[in-house]
Amino acid sequence: MSYDVIVIGSGPGGYVCAIKAAQLGMKVAVVEKRATYGGTCLNIGCIPSKALLHASEVFHHAAHGMADLGVEVGAPTLNLPKMMAHKDATVKSNVEGVAFLFKKNKIDGIQGTGKILGAGKVEVTNDAGEVQVLETKNIVIATGSDVAGIPGVAVEIDEKIIVSSTGGIALDKVPAKMIVVGGGVIGLELGSVWSRLGAKVTVVEYLDTILGGMDGEVSKQFQRILAKQGMEFNLGAKVTGVVKSGDGAKVTFEPVKGGEAQTLDADVVLVATGRKPYTAGLGLEESGVALDNRGRVEIDGHYRTNVAGIYAIGDVVKGPMLAHKAEDEGVALAEILAGQHGHVNYEVIPGVVYTQPEVASVGKTEEELKAAGVTYKVGKFPFTANGRARAMQAMDGFVKVLADKDTDRVLGVHIIGLGAGEMIHEAAVLMEFGGSSEDLGRTCHAHPTMSEAVKEAALATFFKPLHM
Ligand code: NAI
Repeated sequence: MSYDVIVIGSGPGGYVCAIKAAQLGMKVAVVEKRATYGGTCLNIGCIPSKALLHASEVFHHAAHGMADLGVEVGAPTLNLPKMMAHKDATVKSNVEGVAFLFKKNKIDGIQGTGKILGAGKVEVTNDAGEVQVLETKNIVIATGSDVAGIPGVAVEIDEKIIVSSTGGIALDKVPAKMIVVGGGVIGLELGSVWSRLGAKVTVVEYLDTILGGMDGEVSKQFQRILAKQGMEFNLGAKVTGVVKSGDGAKVTFEPVKGGEAQTLDADVVLVATGRKPYTAGLGLEESGVALDNRGRVEIDGHYRTNVAGIYAIGDVVKGPMLAHKAEDEGVALAEILAGQHGHVNYEVIPGVVYTQPEVASVGKTEEELKAAGVTYKVGKFPFTANGRARAMQAMDGFVKVLADKDTDRVLGVHIIGLGAGEMIHEAAVLMEFGGSSEDLGRTCHAHPTMSEAVKEAALATFFKPLHM
Protein backbone atom coordinates (compact mmCIF):
# COMPACT_ATOMS: atom_id res chain seq x y z
CA MET A 1 0.00 0.00 0.00
CA SER A 2 1.40 3.40 -0.94
CA TYR A 3 -0.04 6.68 0.32
CA ASP A 4 -0.11 10.23 -0.97
CA VAL A 5 0.44 11.54 2.55
CA ILE A 6 1.52 9.99 5.83
CA VAL A 7 1.05 12.29 8.80
CA ILE A 8 3.05 11.46 11.93
CA GLY A 9 1.09 12.62 14.96
CA SER A 10 -2.66 13.05 15.35
CA GLY A 11 -2.85 16.27 17.37
CA PRO A 12 -4.80 19.28 16.05
CA GLY A 13 -2.09 19.94 13.43
CA GLY A 14 -1.81 16.36 12.21
CA TYR A 15 -5.42 15.23 12.30
CA VAL A 16 -6.71 18.39 10.63
CA CYS A 17 -4.04 18.13 7.92
CA ALA A 18 -5.07 14.50 7.34
CA ILE A 19 -8.77 15.34 7.07
CA LYS A 20 -8.17 18.25 4.71
CA ALA A 21 -5.81 16.16 2.53
CA ALA A 22 -8.42 13.37 2.35
CA GLN A 23 -11.15 15.89 1.50
CA LEU A 24 -8.95 17.08 -1.36
CA GLY A 25 -8.79 13.55 -2.73
CA MET A 26 -5.53 12.21 -1.33
CA LYS A 27 -4.94 8.76 0.14
CA VAL A 28 -3.90 9.46 3.72
CA ALA A 29 -2.56 7.56 6.75
CA VAL A 30 -1.94 8.91 10.23
CA VAL A 31 0.63 7.28 12.52
CA GLU A 32 -0.11 7.77 16.22
CA LYS A 33 1.75 6.23 19.16
CA ARG A 34 -0.93 6.98 21.74
CA ALA A 35 -3.92 4.62 22.04
CA THR A 36 -6.24 7.49 21.14
CA TYR A 37 -6.13 10.30 18.57
CA GLY A 38 -6.00 14.00 19.32
CA GLY A 39 -2.48 14.47 20.72
CA THR A 40 -1.68 16.62 23.73
CA CYS A 41 -4.59 18.98 23.07
CA LEU A 42 -7.42 16.46 23.23
CA ASN A 43 -5.89 13.93 25.64
CA ILE A 44 -3.96 15.92 28.25
CA GLY A 45 -4.09 19.59 27.28
CA CYS A 46 -6.67 22.03 25.98
CA ILE A 47 -9.77 19.87 26.23
CA PRO A 48 -9.38 18.27 29.69
CA SER A 49 -8.14 21.53 31.18
CA LYS A 50 -11.19 23.35 29.82
CA ALA A 51 -13.47 20.70 31.34
CA LEU A 52 -11.83 21.34 34.73
CA LEU A 53 -11.78 25.11 34.26
CA HIS A 54 -15.51 25.11 33.57
CA ALA A 55 -16.40 22.75 36.42
CA SER A 56 -14.21 24.53 38.97
CA GLU A 57 -15.66 27.84 37.86
CA VAL A 58 -19.19 26.57 38.46
CA PHE A 59 -18.10 25.35 41.91
CA HIS A 60 -16.54 28.70 42.75
CA HIS A 61 -19.54 30.60 41.42
CA ALA A 62 -21.91 28.50 43.51
CA ALA A 63 -19.87 29.34 46.61
CA HIS A 64 -19.20 33.02 45.91
CA GLY A 65 -21.21 34.42 43.04
CA MET A 66 -24.77 33.22 43.37
CA ALA A 67 -26.06 34.54 46.69
CA ASP A 68 -25.78 38.15 45.44
CA LEU A 69 -28.09 37.21 42.57
CA GLY A 70 -30.67 35.92 45.03
CA VAL A 71 -29.82 32.27 44.53
CA GLU A 72 -29.06 30.72 47.89
CA VAL A 73 -27.90 27.13 47.70
CA GLY A 74 -25.69 26.86 50.76
CA ALA A 75 -22.04 25.88 50.58
CA PRO A 76 -21.39 23.60 47.60
CA THR A 77 -19.69 20.24 48.18
CA LEU A 78 -16.82 19.20 45.95
CA ASN A 79 -17.00 15.72 44.46
CA LEU A 80 -13.55 15.64 42.85
CA PRO A 81 -13.80 12.10 41.41
CA LYS A 82 -17.01 13.15 39.65
CA MET A 83 -15.38 16.32 38.33
CA MET A 84 -12.51 14.18 37.00
CA ALA A 85 -15.03 11.77 35.47
CA HIS A 86 -16.62 14.72 33.64
CA LYS A 87 -13.15 15.63 32.35
CA ASP A 88 -12.45 12.04 31.26
CA ALA A 89 -15.82 11.73 29.52
CA THR A 90 -15.15 15.00 27.68
CA VAL A 91 -11.79 13.69 26.48
CA LYS A 92 -13.30 10.36 25.45
CA SER A 93 -16.02 11.91 23.32
CA ASN A 94 -13.52 14.22 21.63
CA VAL A 95 -10.92 11.56 20.81
CA GLU A 96 -13.69 9.29 19.53
CA GLY A 97 -14.85 12.19 17.39
CA VAL A 98 -11.48 12.23 15.65
CA ALA A 99 -11.65 8.45 15.08
CA PHE A 100 -15.09 8.94 13.53
CA LEU A 101 -13.77 11.69 11.24
CA PHE A 102 -10.88 9.45 10.12
CA LYS A 103 -13.34 6.70 9.21
CA LYS A 104 -15.64 9.13 7.43
CA ASN A 105 -12.75 10.47 5.36
CA LYS A 106 -11.27 6.99 4.72
CA ILE A 107 -8.04 7.85 6.53
CA ASP A 108 -5.99 4.87 7.75
CA GLY A 109 -5.14 5.29 11.42
CA ILE A 110 -2.02 3.29 12.26
CA GLN A 111 -1.13 2.74 15.90
CA GLY A 112 2.57 2.84 16.65
CA THR A 113 5.66 5.00 16.80
CA GLY A 114 6.68 6.43 13.47
CA LYS A 115 10.26 6.77 12.34
CA ILE A 116 11.27 8.39 9.07
CA LEU A 117 13.65 6.16 7.14
CA GLY A 118 14.10 8.77 4.41
CA ALA A 119 11.90 10.56 1.88
CA GLY A 120 8.91 8.34 1.10
CA LYS A 121 9.41 5.74 3.85
CA VAL A 122 7.99 5.60 7.37
CA GLU A 123 8.69 2.72 9.74
CA VAL A 124 5.99 2.09 12.34
CA THR A 125 6.57 0.02 15.49
CA ASN A 126 3.41 -0.81 17.40
CA ASP A 127 3.04 -1.51 21.13
CA ALA A 128 3.51 -5.24 20.51
CA GLY A 129 6.88 -4.52 18.90
CA GLU A 130 5.70 -5.40 15.38
CA VAL A 131 7.36 -3.36 12.67
CA GLN A 132 6.02 -2.33 9.27
CA VAL A 133 7.33 0.04 6.64
CA LEU A 134 4.87 2.28 4.81
CA GLU A 135 5.48 4.06 1.53
CA THR A 136 4.22 7.51 0.66
CA LYS A 137 4.75 10.45 -1.66
CA ASN A 138 4.75 12.95 1.22
CA ILE A 139 5.53 12.83 4.94
CA VAL A 140 4.13 15.40 7.38
CA ILE A 141 5.83 15.71 10.76
CA ALA A 142 3.20 16.82 13.27
CA THR A 143 4.69 15.37 16.45
CA GLY A 144 3.99 18.39 18.63
CA SER A 145 5.76 19.26 21.83
CA ASP A 146 6.61 17.95 25.28
CA VAL A 147 7.12 19.41 28.75
CA ALA A 148 10.37 21.41 28.74
CA GLY A 149 11.12 21.35 32.48
CA ILE A 150 12.91 24.22 34.20
CA PRO A 151 15.90 25.43 32.20
CA GLY A 152 19.11 24.52 34.02
CA VAL A 153 17.35 22.86 36.97
CA ALA A 154 17.12 19.09 37.41
CA VAL A 155 13.55 18.33 38.51
CA GLU A 156 12.07 14.89 38.99
CA ILE A 157 8.48 15.17 37.78
CA ASP A 158 6.57 12.27 39.36
CA GLU A 159 3.14 13.63 38.26
CA LYS A 160 1.85 13.25 41.84
CA ILE A 161 3.71 15.81 43.97
CA ILE A 162 5.85 17.51 41.36
CA VAL A 163 3.59 17.66 38.35
CA SER A 164 3.57 18.94 34.81
CA SER A 165 0.25 19.90 33.20
CA THR A 166 -0.35 16.14 32.72
CA GLY A 167 -0.41 15.46 36.47
CA GLY A 168 -1.92 18.88 37.12
CA ILE A 169 -5.20 17.82 35.51
CA ALA A 170 -5.34 14.54 37.41
CA LEU A 171 -4.69 15.23 41.11
CA ASP A 172 -6.69 12.96 43.38
CA LYS A 173 -7.18 15.58 46.07
CA VAL A 174 -7.08 19.34 46.36
CA PRO A 175 -3.65 20.33 47.68
CA ALA A 176 -3.70 22.73 50.63
CA LYS A 177 -0.69 24.58 49.19
CA MET A 178 0.31 24.60 45.55
CA ILE A 179 3.31 26.34 44.05
CA VAL A 180 3.19 27.07 40.36
CA VAL A 181 6.56 27.53 38.68
CA GLY A 182 5.97 29.78 35.66
CA GLY A 183 3.31 32.47 35.34
CA GLY A 184 2.48 31.58 31.74
CA VAL A 185 -0.72 30.20 30.28
CA ILE A 186 -0.58 26.72 31.82
CA GLY A 187 0.43 28.00 35.26
CA LEU A 188 -2.41 30.52 35.41
CA GLU A 189 -5.09 28.24 33.97
CA LEU A 190 -4.31 25.21 36.15
CA GLY A 191 -3.42 27.45 39.10
CA SER A 192 -6.93 28.92 38.75
CA VAL A 193 -8.52 25.46 38.73
CA TRP A 194 -6.95 24.41 42.04
CA SER A 195 -7.28 27.84 43.61
CA ARG A 196 -11.05 27.79 42.94
CA LEU A 197 -11.27 24.33 44.46
CA GLY A 198 -9.60 25.56 47.66
CA ALA A 199 -5.81 25.39 47.23
CA LYS A 200 -3.61 28.30 48.31
CA VAL A 201 -1.76 28.95 45.06
CA THR A 202 1.55 30.81 44.82
CA VAL A 203 3.02 31.59 41.40
CA VAL A 204 6.77 32.03 41.02
CA GLU A 205 7.68 33.72 37.76
CA TYR A 206 11.04 34.71 36.32
CA LEU A 207 9.81 37.79 34.45
CA ASP A 208 8.48 40.97 36.08
CA THR A 209 5.02 40.28 34.64
CA ILE A 210 2.73 37.32 34.26
CA LEU A 211 1.81 36.22 30.72
CA GLY A 212 5.07 37.59 29.29
CA GLY A 213 4.54 38.79 25.74
CA MET A 214 0.96 39.90 26.35
CA ASP A 215 0.07 43.59 26.26
CA GLY A 216 1.61 45.10 29.41
CA GLU A 217 -1.54 46.86 30.58
CA VAL A 218 -3.50 43.63 30.17
CA SER A 219 -1.07 41.51 32.16
CA LYS A 220 -0.91 44.10 34.98
CA GLN A 221 -4.68 44.32 35.38
CA PHE A 222 -5.07 40.57 34.98
CA GLN A 223 -2.59 40.00 37.79
CA ARG A 224 -4.59 42.33 40.05
CA ILE A 225 -7.76 40.37 39.25
CA LEU A 226 -6.08 37.02 40.02
CA ALA A 227 -4.60 38.42 43.24
CA LYS A 228 -8.11 39.53 44.28
CA GLN A 229 -9.19 35.93 43.65
CA GLY A 230 -6.55 34.80 46.15
CA MET A 231 -3.52 33.87 44.01
CA GLU A 232 -0.14 35.03 45.28
CA PHE A 233 2.69 36.14 43.02
CA ASN A 234 6.46 36.20 43.32
CA LEU A 235 7.62 37.97 40.17
CA GLY A 236 11.18 38.56 39.00
CA ALA A 237 11.99 35.32 40.81
CA LYS A 238 14.08 32.55 39.35
CA VAL A 239 13.37 29.05 40.55
CA THR A 240 16.65 27.25 41.18
CA GLY A 241 15.44 24.07 42.85
CA VAL A 242 12.37 21.88 43.23
CA VAL A 243 12.83 18.85 45.46
CA LYS A 244 10.54 16.38 47.14
CA SER A 245 10.45 16.59 50.90
CA GLY A 246 8.32 14.28 53.03
CA ASP A 247 4.79 14.24 51.62
CA GLY A 248 5.35 17.47 49.73
CA ALA A 249 8.05 19.47 48.01
CA LYS A 250 10.24 22.51 48.50
CA VAL A 251 10.76 25.21 45.92
CA THR A 252 13.78 27.48 46.10
CA PHE A 253 13.93 30.73 44.19
CA GLU A 254 16.01 33.89 44.12
CA PRO A 255 15.40 37.42 42.87
CA VAL A 256 16.52 37.68 39.24
CA LYS A 257 18.14 41.05 40.09
CA GLY A 258 20.17 39.36 42.83
CA GLY A 259 19.53 38.90 46.54
CA GLU A 260 18.58 36.31 49.13
CA ALA A 261 17.15 33.01 47.99
CA GLN A 262 14.03 31.74 49.75
CA THR A 263 12.40 28.35 50.00
CA LEU A 264 8.68 27.63 50.19
CA ASP A 265 6.90 24.37 51.05
CA ALA A 266 4.03 23.01 49.04
CA ASP A 267 1.88 19.90 48.86
CA VAL A 268 2.03 20.00 45.07
CA VAL A 269 4.34 21.85 42.71
CA LEU A 270 3.18 22.49 39.15
CA VAL A 271 6.07 22.97 36.74
CA ALA A 272 4.76 25.14 33.91
CA THR A 273 7.88 26.61 32.38
CA GLY A 274 7.15 25.97 28.74
CA ARG A 275 7.22 23.17 26.19
CA LYS A 276 9.81 21.95 23.70
CA PRO A 277 9.44 20.47 20.22
CA TYR A 278 9.05 16.69 20.26
CA THR A 279 11.39 14.99 17.80
CA ALA A 280 12.90 12.12 19.82
CA GLY A 281 13.15 8.81 17.95
CA LEU A 282 11.68 10.29 14.79
CA GLY A 283 14.73 9.45 12.68
CA LEU A 284 15.41 13.05 11.75
CA GLU A 285 19.16 12.72 12.05
CA GLU A 286 19.23 9.52 9.97
CA SER A 287 17.00 10.98 7.28
CA GLY A 288 18.92 14.27 7.25
CA VAL A 289 16.07 16.59 8.33
CA ALA A 290 17.59 19.78 9.74
CA LEU A 291 16.61 21.40 13.04
CA ASP A 292 16.99 25.08 13.90
CA ASN A 293 19.02 26.40 16.85
CA ARG A 294 16.05 25.85 19.21
CA GLY A 295 15.56 22.20 18.30
CA ARG A 296 12.56 22.84 16.05
CA VAL A 297 12.21 21.27 12.62
CA GLU A 298 13.36 23.90 10.17
CA ILE A 299 10.85 24.78 7.47
CA ASP A 300 10.45 27.28 4.66
CA GLY A 301 7.33 29.37 3.96
CA HIS A 302 5.62 26.29 2.52
CA TYR A 303 6.28 23.93 5.47
CA ARG A 304 9.03 22.14 3.49
CA THR A 305 11.97 20.78 5.44
CA ASN A 306 15.37 20.60 3.77
CA VAL A 307 14.51 17.05 2.54
CA ALA A 308 12.19 16.94 -0.48
CA GLY A 309 8.84 15.29 0.34
CA ILE A 310 9.13 15.85 4.11
CA TYR A 311 7.11 18.66 5.68
CA ALA A 312 6.42 19.84 9.24
CA ILE A 313 3.69 21.83 11.05
CA GLY A 314 2.50 22.77 14.53
CA ASP A 315 4.41 22.88 17.83
CA VAL A 316 7.40 21.08 16.28
CA VAL A 317 8.11 24.12 14.06
CA LYS A 318 8.55 27.84 14.79
CA GLY A 319 5.69 30.07 15.95
CA PRO A 320 3.33 30.03 18.92
CA MET A 321 2.55 26.60 20.37
CA LEU A 322 -1.20 26.87 19.86
CA ALA A 323 -3.61 24.21 18.64
CA HIS A 324 -5.40 26.57 16.25
CA LYS A 325 -2.11 27.73 14.70
CA ALA A 326 -1.25 24.06 14.11
CA GLU A 327 -4.72 23.39 12.61
CA ASP A 328 -4.43 26.27 10.18
CA GLU A 329 -0.98 25.11 9.15
CA GLY A 330 -2.40 21.62 8.60
CA VAL A 331 -5.05 22.99 6.27
CA ALA A 332 -2.58 25.21 4.40
CA LEU A 333 -0.14 22.33 3.92
CA ALA A 334 -2.83 19.94 2.67
CA GLU A 335 -3.86 22.59 0.14
CA ILE A 336 -0.25 23.08 -0.96
CA LEU A 337 0.15 19.30 -1.39
CA ALA A 338 -2.99 19.34 -3.54
CA GLY A 339 -1.45 22.00 -5.77
CA GLN A 340 -3.43 24.86 -4.25
CA HIS A 341 -2.15 28.02 -2.55
CA GLY A 342 -2.48 27.29 1.17
CA HIS A 343 -1.51 30.16 3.43
CA VAL A 344 -1.66 31.15 7.11
CA ASN A 345 -1.84 34.79 8.16
CA TYR A 346 0.46 34.78 11.19
CA GLU A 347 -0.46 38.41 11.92
CA VAL A 348 -3.96 37.37 12.94
CA ILE A 349 -3.70 34.41 15.31
CA PRO A 350 -5.80 34.92 18.43
CA GLY A 351 -4.52 33.87 21.84
CA VAL A 352 -6.84 33.07 24.73
CA VAL A 353 -6.21 32.34 28.40
CA TYR A 354 -9.24 30.44 29.68
CA THR A 355 -9.30 31.78 33.21
CA GLN A 356 -12.19 33.71 34.75
CA PRO A 357 -12.28 36.36 33.41
CA GLU A 358 -10.72 35.23 30.16
CA VAL A 359 -7.87 37.08 28.49
CA ALA A 360 -7.87 37.25 24.72
CA SER A 361 -5.74 39.06 22.22
CA VAL A 362 -5.08 39.28 18.52
CA GLY A 363 -2.46 41.25 16.64
CA LYS A 364 0.13 43.56 18.09
CA THR A 365 0.58 44.68 21.69
CA GLU A 366 1.32 48.29 22.57
CA GLU A 367 4.88 47.30 23.44
CA GLU A 368 5.38 45.67 20.03
CA LEU A 369 4.07 48.74 18.20
CA LYS A 370 6.36 51.01 20.23
CA ALA A 371 9.36 48.79 19.51
CA ALA A 372 8.53 48.80 15.78
CA GLY A 373 8.22 52.60 15.77
CA VAL A 374 4.61 52.50 14.59
CA THR A 375 2.51 55.55 15.52
CA TYR A 376 -0.76 54.30 16.93
CA LYS A 377 -3.84 55.37 18.84
CA VAL A 378 -5.53 53.53 21.70
CA GLY A 379 -9.21 53.17 22.53
CA LYS A 380 -10.37 51.50 25.75
CA PHE A 381 -13.67 50.63 27.32
CA PRO A 382 -14.20 48.98 30.72
CA PHE A 383 -16.88 46.35 31.39
CA THR A 384 -17.95 48.38 34.45
CA ALA A 385 -19.72 50.67 31.94
CA ASN A 386 -21.44 47.83 30.07
CA GLY A 387 -25.05 47.10 30.99
CA ARG A 388 -24.95 43.37 30.27
CA ALA A 389 -21.76 42.99 32.35
CA ARG A 390 -23.53 44.66 35.29
CA ALA A 391 -26.54 42.38 34.90
CA MET A 392 -24.24 39.37 35.08
CA GLN A 393 -21.90 40.81 37.72
CA ALA A 394 -19.06 40.37 35.24
CA MET A 395 -17.55 43.84 35.42
CA ASP A 396 -13.88 42.79 35.63
CA GLY A 397 -11.78 43.79 32.66
CA PHE A 398 -11.80 45.99 29.59
CA VAL A 399 -11.38 46.05 25.82
CA LYS A 400 -8.41 47.79 24.27
CA VAL A 401 -8.13 48.56 20.57
CA LEU A 402 -4.89 49.65 18.93
CA ALA A 403 -5.07 51.25 15.49
CA ASP A 404 -2.63 52.92 13.13
CA LYS A 405 -2.65 56.65 13.82
CA ASP A 406 -2.70 57.65 10.16
CA THR A 407 -4.79 54.97 8.47
CA ASP A 408 -7.00 53.86 11.43
CA ARG A 409 -6.34 50.23 10.46
CA VAL A 410 -6.76 48.01 13.54
CA LEU A 411 -3.42 46.50 14.52
CA GLY A 412 -4.30 44.77 17.79
CA VAL A 413 -7.22 44.05 20.11
CA HIS A 414 -6.86 42.92 23.72
CA ILE A 415 -9.71 41.91 26.00
CA ILE A 416 -9.99 40.86 29.63
CA GLY A 417 -13.54 39.85 30.46
CA LEU A 418 -16.17 37.16 30.67
CA GLY A 419 -16.32 35.51 27.25
CA ALA A 420 -13.25 37.39 25.93
CA GLY A 421 -12.22 34.22 24.06
CA GLU A 422 -15.42 34.38 22.02
CA MET A 423 -15.49 38.15 21.57
CA ILE A 424 -11.97 38.30 20.15
CA HIS A 425 -13.08 36.75 16.86
CA GLU A 426 -14.94 39.78 15.59
CA ALA A 427 -11.62 41.61 15.87
CA ALA A 428 -9.86 38.73 14.08
CA VAL A 429 -12.32 38.86 11.16
CA LEU A 430 -12.04 42.64 10.99
CA MET A 431 -8.24 42.42 10.90
CA GLU A 432 -8.30 39.70 8.21
CA PHE A 433 -10.12 42.22 6.04
CA GLY A 434 -7.77 45.07 6.99
CA GLY A 435 -10.61 46.89 8.75
CA SER A 436 -10.39 50.16 10.65
CA SER A 437 -11.53 51.06 14.16
CA GLU A 438 -14.24 53.16 12.50
CA ASP A 439 -15.48 50.03 10.63
CA LEU A 440 -15.71 48.20 13.96
CA GLY A 441 -17.27 51.13 15.82
CA ARG A 442 -19.92 51.65 13.12
CA THR A 443 -20.90 47.98 12.99
CA CYS A 444 -24.25 47.49 14.71
CA HIS A 445 -23.78 45.38 17.86
CA ALA A 446 -26.75 43.74 19.58
CA HIS A 447 -27.83 45.28 22.87
CA PRO A 448 -27.32 44.26 25.58
CA THR A 449 -24.16 42.24 24.97
CA MET A 450 -20.62 42.16 26.34
CA SER A 451 -19.51 42.71 22.73
CA GLU A 452 -20.83 46.28 22.86
CA ALA A 453 -17.65 47.00 24.85
CA VAL A 454 -15.66 46.01 21.72
CA LYS A 455 -17.68 48.49 19.67
CA GLU A 456 -17.26 51.19 22.32
CA ALA A 457 -13.49 50.64 22.50
CA ALA A 458 -13.40 51.00 18.70
CA LEU A 459 -15.46 54.20 18.94
CA ALA A 460 -13.00 55.42 21.56
CA THR A 461 -10.16 54.73 19.13
CA PHE A 462 -11.40 56.82 16.22
CA PHE A 463 -13.48 59.42 18.09
CA LYS A 464 -15.26 59.02 21.45
CA PRO A 465 -17.14 56.24 23.21
CA LEU A 466 -20.85 56.87 23.75
CA HIS A 467 -21.36 55.37 27.19
CA MET A 468 -18.47 56.96 29.05
P1 NAI B 1 4.80 29.70 28.85
O1 NAI B 1 5.98 29.89 27.97
O2 NAI B 1 3.51 30.32 28.52
O3 NAI B 1 5.18 30.18 30.33
C1 NAI B 1 6.29 29.69 31.03
C2 NAI B 1 6.72 30.72 32.06
O4 NAI B 1 7.70 30.13 32.90
C3 NAI B 1 7.35 31.96 31.42
O5 NAI B 1 6.66 33.10 31.85
C4 NAI B 1 8.79 31.91 31.95
O6 NAI B 1 9.33 33.20 32.19
C5 NAI B 1 8.65 31.12 33.24
N1 NAI B 1 9.90 30.49 33.71
C6 NAI B 1 10.80 29.78 32.98
N2 NAI B 1 11.83 29.36 33.78
C7 NAI B 1 11.58 29.80 35.03
C8 NAI B 1 12.24 29.68 36.29
N3 NAI B 1 13.42 29.03 36.42
N4 NAI B 1 11.69 30.28 37.37
C9 NAI B 1 10.52 30.95 37.26
N5 NAI B 1 9.83 31.07 36.10
C10 NAI B 1 10.35 30.51 35.00
O7 NAI B 1 4.68 28.10 29.00
P2 NAI B 1 3.52 27.19 29.60
O8 NAI B 1 2.59 27.98 30.43
O9 NAI B 1 4.23 26.03 30.20
O10 NAI B 1 2.75 26.73 28.30
C11 NAI B 1 3.43 25.96 27.30
C12 NAI B 1 2.85 26.21 25.94
O11 NAI B 1 1.53 25.72 25.87
C13 NAI B 1 2.82 27.68 25.61
O12 NAI B 1 3.36 27.86 24.33
C14 NAI B 1 1.36 28.02 25.62
O13 NAI B 1 1.05 29.00 24.64
C15 NAI B 1 0.68 26.70 25.33
N6 NAI B 1 -0.62 26.68 26.00
C16 NAI B 1 -1.62 27.46 25.52
C17 NAI B 1 -2.83 27.51 26.16
C18 NAI B 1 -3.88 28.42 25.65
O14 NAI B 1 -3.74 28.93 24.55
N7 NAI B 1 -4.95 28.68 26.39
C19 NAI B 1 -3.10 26.72 27.36
C20 NAI B 1 -1.97 25.97 27.79
C21 NAI B 1 -0.79 25.95 27.12
